[in-house]
Amino acid sequence: MSESMSGSSLKIAGIAGSLRRGSYNRMLLAALGEVLPKRAALVPVEIGDLPLYNEDLNNPERLPAAVAAFKQRLSTADAVVFATPEYNYSIPGVLKNALDWASRPVAESPLRGKPAGIMGASQGAFGTVRAQLHLRHVCVFLDLHPFNVPEVLVRDPAQKFDAHGILTDGPTRRLLQQFGEALVAWTLRLRGDGAAGR
Ligand code: FNR
Repeated sequence: MSESMSGSSLKIAGIAGSLRRGSYNRMLLAALGEVLPKRAALVPVEIGDLPLYNEDLNNPERLPAAVAAFKQRLSTADAVVFATPEYNYSIPGVLKNALDWASRPVAESPLRGKPAGIMGASQGAFGTVRAQLHLRHVCVFLDLHPFNVPEVLVRDPAQKFDAHGILTDGPTRRLLQQFGEALVAWTLRLRGDGAAGR
């Protein structure tokens, strides 16, 4: 039995939907890692080195090494959490590209049946609400299961993180803590271990 299955720790794969170094969504993921319940650990999974999806490469002989490594990292995770900005009222292309790679072959996708959490930070007044709803839509086919509440919609992130990328906004930090607790409880519940999360 793996360590995560024995109940001692949960591995949460964290994917940021932004590649830029100063990304607020990367900061949000890092902040989640700080406030997650002790039994869970956030493991950042990078998507910036994935090539653009090409069906010609999606076979065992030609699969790019970066894609194989990405899928392997997802397969060993107990749950996945996304921190995504909103781009043109949807999710960024880099995130969709990563999900497309992870989705095929469908029967072997490391995302199938996994618990998930969705959060986001954007400059706009609605703090990624439209991107998050689009991501939920994509999750349907992926058979990825995001929990619903609490929602973490961070608007005006420049006022909430300091120059070192630390989340300094108290209410957002408390919300993030509740989000982390909900993610762990949801992960345990989906694998039939709900009582262990309480
Ligand atoms: C944006 N931005 C943006 N913001 C928003 O609230 N709604 C939107 O539809 C968009 N659209 C959009 C498109 C493109 C191409 C870019 C580059 C940006 C602003 C965006 O939310 C802001 O740049 C965030 O700070 C990006 O997230 P990271 O990189 O800080 O994680």
